[in-house]
Amino acid sequence: NEIKPYANEPFTDFGKPENVEAMKEAIAKVKSELGRNYPLKVGGQKIETEAKITSVNPGNVDEVIGFVSKADREVAERAMQAALATFETWKKVPARERAEYLFKAARLMRERKHEFSALMLLESGKNYVEADVDTAEAIDFMEFYAREMIRLSTIDETMPLAKIPGEDNRLTYIPLGVGVVIPPWNFPLAICVGMTTAAIVSGNTVLLKPASTTPVIAHKFVEMMEEVGLPAGVINYIPGSGAEVGDFLTTHPKTRFVSFTGSKEVGLRINKLAADTAPGQIWIKRVVAEMGGKDGIVVDETADLDAAAAAIAASAFGFQGQKCSAGSRAIIVESVYDEVAERVVKLTEQLQIGLPELNFASGPVIDNVSYARILDYIEIGKSEGTLLTGGAKAPGNGYYIQPTVFGDVSPKARIMQEEIFGPVLALAKAKDWREAIDMYNDTEFGLTGSYFSADEDRIAEALETVHCGNLYVNRKCTGALVGVHPFGGFNMSGTDSKAGGYDYLLLFTQAKLTSRKA
Ligand code: NAD
Ligand code: ALA
Repeated sequence: NEIKPYANEPFTDFGKPENVEAMKEAIAKVKSELGRNYPLKVGGQKIETEAKITSVNPGNVDEVIGFVSKADREVAERAMQAALATFETWKKVPARERAEYLFKAARLMRERKHEFSALMLLESGKNYVEADVDTAEAIDFMEFYAREMIRLSTIDETMPLAKIPGEDNRLTYIPLGVGVVIPPWNFPLAICVGMTTAAIVSGNTVLLKPASTTPVIAHKFVEMMEEVGLPAGVINYIPGSGAEVGDFLTTHPKTRFVSFTGSKEVGLRINKLAADTAPGQIWIKRVVAEMGGKDGIVVDETADLDAAAAAIAASAFGFQGQKCSAGSRAIIVESVYDEVAERVVKLTEQLQIGLPELNFASGPVIDNVSYARILDYIEIGKSEGTLLTGGAKAPGNGYYIQPTVFGDVSPKARIMQEEIFGPVLALAKAKDWREAIDMYNDTEFGLTGSYFSADEDRIAEALETVHCGNLYVNRKCTGALVGVHPFGGFNMSGTDSKAGGYDYLLLFTQAKLTSRKA
């Protein structure tokens, strides 16, 4: 079968009434199936446990999405044994055949796109567009990594090694072993699918521990992989406590790699625990950690100020600011500061807050822990800057918070330095564009950033001096596309990996050189 060149999955146009209707139908279908029990999956076996994770709709907390069985250490050990046994056969499956499972799954997810988006919308609080973009990204990851594995497996033809007489030399990329995959809840489908399928298409088997707030959408993905015929034991689905199951597997001697996306705190813990060698361990564990951000937008006085204000509001408040890429800071040159701040506040006040299933622009934050933490940061913000809009809870039977903007915040303030992961934006003033860039760079993170300017010389300098993994010019700092904007950050934003990029599968493989005398 000929493989078409990679192209991003188009987004659904919800300006068309028929697409809105289709999404409403999908929501109604998913709602009729809520409240079920979901088992763990270990080596093809379904395991029901007495202990359950109750997944609820953060926008309507009386609505239960599902009851999910919860793995403990004993189940995690069984899952490890199943993954180890399956690795012995899965690693021998040709790369092209492994890729084929991803192509099939991408086709199936495309057919059921709205159903995936509807479930995600109810479980995580995304609106129609945010959920649709997440599902499209999940499809993209499968299409992209499938092609990438095929490319790596044929690299001898496309990038042959230098030849010397009398020898046939080849480089092949072989898998690592059993990996622990730990995704976050904020891209509950895309990142879960991307991390899992990158690992398995490379020939590894995995223990997938989804985030405890979004285990049902992860289950739907695992179920779909069964449907496409993926052999049992390649993906073992083991939701559970991060502290219990996570620590147990991170320190397990048979764990070959941990692929983690989440907060800086947990990422650093995994990195530290994985660095120790357990008795019987014969390798150095590989840790891929994609962590938080304190992303920001820099605006100079030559910029299109309307476009800058729109990008600041979109980057700060898309999915309630719960993106690692969220632009939670904007640093504006003082001569245009008031004008930009006024426009940002106006746009923020236009955001209507309400139930995701009714497609309000702003929905809830994920759970009571986040809710309390964000409200605490809002109180901190009140002592660190001028409250320009928002600053309080919002009504609704869920975790709703007003989109909040603080002005005149100092660069060293906590709300300028710490990841809040909620709908809180800090605006800061700089005397000129160079100082604004210095202020942007003054954090421990380095994930996404944007520079707004009409001055080509400044843009050229900014491209070199703004230090982050994903730097955009004259556009928002969220919305990276697979294959187009390989995604990942510097410093405390992670281990410098690039999801959706050409280097990513190298993280889940090891290169073997074979040299044969002719
Ligand atoms: P989190 O760190 O709280 O949890 C992430 C995952 O780690 C969850 O599955 C959780 O159950 C698990 N976990 C918790 N303790 C663990 C332990 N001791 N061992 C192993 N696993 C453990 O993060 P979150 O709240 O789910 O997600 C939000 C964070 O993720 C933000 O900081 C955000 O910036 C970051 N993020 C980063 C990227 C990126 O690509 N860089 C993308 C999305 C989210
Ligand atoms: N990849 C996501 C974005 O760029 C996090 O917004």
